[in-house]
Amino acid sequence: MALRKPKVIVTRKLPDAVETRMRELFDTELNLDDTPMDVETLAAALARAEVLACTITDRLDGDLIARAGPQLKLIANFGVGVDHIDVTAANARGIVVTNTPGVLTEDTADLTMGLILAAARRVVEGANIVQAGDFHGWTPTWMLGRRLSGKRLGIVGMGRIGQALAKRARAFGLAVHYHNRKPVGARIAEELEATYWESLDQMLARTDVISVNCPHTPATYHLLSARRLKLLQPHALVINTARGEIIDEAALAGMLQRGEIAGAGLDVYEHEPAINPKLLKLPNVVLLPHMSSATIEGRIEMGEKVIINIRTWMDGHRPPDRVIPSML
Ligand code: DGY
Repeated sequence: MALRKPKVIVTRKLPDAVETRMRELFDTELNLDDTPMDVETLAAALARAEVLACTITDRLDGDLIARAGPQLKLIANFGVGVDHIDVTAANARGIVVTNTPGVLTEDTADLTMGLILAAARRVVEGANIVQAGDFHGWTPTWMLGRRLSGKRLGIVGMGRIGQALAKRARAFGLAVHYHNRKPVGARIAEELEATYWESLDQMLARTDVISVNCPHTPATYHLLSARRLKLLQPHALVINTARGEIIDEAALAGMLQRGEIAGAGLDVYEHEPAINPKLLKLPNVVLLPHMSSATIEGRIEMGEKVIINIRTWMDGHRPPDRVIPSML
């Protein structure tokens, strides 16, 4: 007997291959023109769907989840971060939340390493000079950056992406330091020659490049607060490909403007897509538009994970990527 196809509403345009498969498997409503859904459109979707396939651009807070119909059983997020979803409120209404971990680890780590290089070696500044027609020949003292080899990288959050970054950083000659709720296992620590800091304050004061790679949760909101940012050394670089809310962006922008730290490479922002206007004017920052996981391969694999989570739920099993609030 053919399985009944559940009503799945997809909130944003996904890669064609993913959408086609979803149409084959489920009673799927697509968002072909990719208009972000406003609160009322999202509420209407929650009132009709059995599965909502959403993304980071959909803010599903407790109030909105309270408006879901009784038929809504699964929120299958296309993305790993779930800080835009009140998972506890969803679970309290019997709605399971899933995400797509693992498949964007390598892409995110690649671009994080790219931002470290770009910030240390002034890559974007140099490219802009050439494009503006302002390159008038080599000089010994112009466009000097900072060498990475031999420096210390402090990774805040040593999960999958933090560890993938650490492997890349080792290849560039950086010494790996990290702060995490718990130290990583002995084998991984040995392989990465990684130094664990229980105290984030102490690590910040001793490392040359800081990379934020932890999830955004109530516990990590403004983890890099104005007070903690002041602990950084003046030549330090701050890199963030996780979530903007983890850093006090106004404090960071002020310190960069006053030259109290050397530079930053940011892919995410506290009030995304708005960016602190001070940051936009600074030469010592590299700013990207939340694209660290943006590869076609990664997006297709994210879609495949969404499909597997929905299929497993349809079959009456626990979806492999169920989000458990206490594990965030
Ligand atoms: C993620 O998967 O969390 C990316 O930041 C996009 O949402």
